Amino acid sequence: MCGIIGYCGPRAAKDVLLDGLKRLEYRGYDSAGICVASAGELTIIKRTGKIAQLREIVPENLPGVYGIGHTRWATHGVVNDVNAHPHTNCAGDIAIVHNGIIENFSALKEKLVNEGHVFRSQTDSEVIAHLVSDFYEGDLETAVKETLQLLKGTYGLICIHAKEPGRLVGARNGSPLVLGVGQEEMFLASDVMATLSHTKQVVYLEDGEVVSITNSDYHICDLRDRPVDKKIETISWELENIEKQGHPHFMEKEIFEQPESVLRAMQGRIDQENATARLGGLNMSTTELRDIERIKIVAAGTSFHAGLVAAYLIESVAQIPCTAELASELRYRNPIVERGSLYFAVSQSGETLDTLSAMRELKRKGARVLGICNVVGSSIAREAGAGVYIHSGPEIAVASTKAFTSQLTAFYLFTLLIARMHNMSFEAGRDFIACLEALPGLIQKGFEEQNHIRALAEKYSRYRDFLFLGRGLNYPVALEGALKLKEISYIHAEGYSAAEIKHGPIALINDETPSIFLVPNDSLRGKVISNMKEVKARKGKVIALCVADDAEVRDTADDIIAIPKAGELMYPFLMIVPLQLFAYYTALKLGRDVDQPRNLAKSVTVE
Ligand code: M6R
Repeated sequence: MCGIIGYCGPRAAKDVLLDGLKRLEYRGYDSAGICVASAGELTIIKRTGKIAQLREIVPENLPGVYGIGHTRWATHGVVNDVNAHPHTNCAGDIAIVHNGIIENFSALKEKLVNEGHVFRSQTDSEVIAHLVSDFYEGDLETAVKETLQLLKGTYGLICIHAKEPGRLVGARNGSPLVLGVGQEEMFLASDVMATLSHTKQVVYLEDGEVVSITNSDYHICDLRDRPVDKKIETISWELENIEKQGHPHFMEKEIFEQPESVLRAMQGRIDQENATARLGGLNMSTTELRDIERIKIVAAGTSFHAGLVAAYLIESVAQIPCTAELASELRYRNPIVERGSLYFAVSQSGETLDTLSAMRELKRKGARVLGICNVVGSSIAREAGAGVYIHSGPEIAVASTKAFTSQLTAFYLFTLLIARMHNMSFEAGRDFIACLEALPGLIQKGFEEQNHIRALAEKYSRYRDFLFLGRGLNYPVALEGALKLKEISYIHAEGYSAAEIKHGPIALINDETPSIFLVPNDSLRGKVISNMKEVKARKGKVIALCVADDAEVRDTADDIIAIPKAGELMYPFLMIVPLQLFAYYTALKLGRDVDQPRNLAKSVTVE
């Protein structure tokens, strides 16, 4: 994790760096720092805390038109001012910022210490500054390249030398790095969000590439010094997409954007005439699609939960065996890649290291892996080469919300496409499309419960443990509801299949452990009501999500949240949105840092 930025241009570097770091703060926010060069000297200012706190100690008149910055999510070394980046060599004339993990740093550090280098921090990153200094013979780029030959692990890094005015050198291996090309100014950053207010022209660096920039020029080469010709791409996001636009938090904004983001994910992809979906990005012929024998989904966190819903859906609707697995587990268990299998790597950011590594391992074994990503040009999207972009727009709150419903939309469209090739009739296809097209309006309608959900969240915010219970397609939604509550409110929450509680979790039920039941109007409704009654019989408090006129659920539960009536398969969309709101309002009531909850970061680019 961590966010890095570099700037060369005519403006005060400190302003560009601090504004850029603010945009990258979602990547890590336990400490931050900048290094600005002027008159052959480097000035480093860093401290524990967020960018706002760093801003307080940066002098208004700090000179310098080029520099580097970093916002940290600690891996090696506790959170303190010393371990914050940038890190320097002994002489203090070389500074680096680094995102990733240098796995062989202990051996490198030991050798450097024996040679007389003095280390100040406990970080793995500091070795980079000392190594560059050892290799430096008048050319920073060469010294960085020689250093990279010794590093094992992952990095997106930027290096600056006091003696090379107006120049920065960056490199990437496993952690993202983007070059922003402006008018007489250049940027390097972990993510385009940091540079969007200055330029929309970007070049995505690949692993093994090194970039050297000045204010007016750049060149990119590989580790063996061979120049690499790269295309400049234009970002389609607008600045307003990354602003709060009047909402107190990005999370609230992103929850309420879901009617539009779900619509965007399906726009241009529905083929009414043939009652199917159009997903050209899959790059698969009809024969290839027809030949799929099984589907496997790999992902982490919320994206994994979307994959679990998809697995239920694809198997039951398209009648193709489908499973979802945590990427972090798959990558180390030597998976068997069978002929006829199609894999999906699902990731909002497209940078999650576990998912990226799982995907690489699957590809090494000859698997066909498609990406389902939000961030265009992200590592997973590029390495997959084919798949579905979900077009949610930037998701900035650490807790994922709109990406989940857009990932579901992509999977629902894929299910329609594949089911129509197998067992789904034209009429059933048309019905499925009608249900999908109704979703944006139904999600919007669900917001009518907003004030009631807020009141419930406040009423229940004193409890320390929650169970989230659902079945079938809504079992993964229960897992996702629990994840939302725990990650932003810090309340302990477990998601289970409602059927499973009698196998253990029911022991937790008492009047201090509320259960949130997902009871849609579907074929499993009766079974879930029985599970709810079992909880009530043990004095458990119950909040149920059900359609407004479900009298039986209303009579059984202590409180209900009404959800709109929809096609049976569509309830995951309508269940998750109130659960996101419940988590959001609970966290607000408890005074939590909703967008940047403790210990977390948006993009998990370390193991
Ligand atoms: O960017 P990704 O979708 O690959 O991220 C996966 C998880 O890190 C992410 O969903 C995480 O669990 C969120 N904090 C959930 O809200």
